[in-house]
Amino acid sequence: MTASKNIVWHDASITRKEREEQNGHRSAILWFTGLSGAGKSTLANAVEDALHNMGTRTYVLDGDNIRHGLCKDMGFSDADRKENIRRIGEVSKLFVDAGTVALTAFISPFRSDRDAVRDLVPEGDFIEIYCKCSLDVCEERDPKGLYKKARAGEIPEFTGISSPYEEPLNPEITVETDKQSLGDSVAQVIDALRARNIVK
Ligand code: ADX
Repeated sequence: MTASKNIVWHDASITRKEREEQNGHRSAILWFTGLSGAGKSTLANAVEDALHNMGTRTYVLDGDNIRHGLCKDMGFSDADRKENIRRIGEVSKLFVDAGTVALTAFISPFRSDRDAVRDLVPEGDFIEIYCKCSLDVCEERDPKGLYKKARAGEIPEFTGISSPYEEPLNPEITVETDKQSLGDSVAQVIDALRARNIVK
């Protein structure tokens, strides 16, 4: 549904399949989800590095960065997080159409919002990667000092403290960032992509 009535879809002349053939790999969305400090951005960037070195076309969309531009009008209420994720989902879908592997690093705390993105692309193109890490460890790491502020009541609606995080029920991949090394997590993701024939 569009807000305006007089909008007609225009088919592109180059198809996703043609782009994928030129690139020599399939496109997909690698959706990293987890608490703040769970290591989503670190892992997404390390996986991108590995994929890039294998000749894969990639792009990382990162929560903190996207909130400086496309989503700079978004806060952290449930409704704003939902809209934040909807926009990123649509952008990721464009990357998939462009033949690229999109890696997204957003808390994306709500199952329904993640599932809505899953439904935007054909089955098998949305790979949910749960960066599992206990709240205790995230809080200990506190790379941006935000947990400390949230505990002091200075940041309302902070995920894990005063706003919920709904764990994925059936993610394609779970990495336990408080138990395994970054290198092991990267290898685990790349292996899973090979098994799904996304990269060779
Ligand atoms: S999401 O919930 O909408 O998916 P997103 O990933 O874009 O969140 O942004 C999360 C980042 O914003 C965190 O890594 C953290 O640095 C920062 N942040 C600032 N305020 C909050 C808050 N109230 N809850 C969670 N993260 C916050």
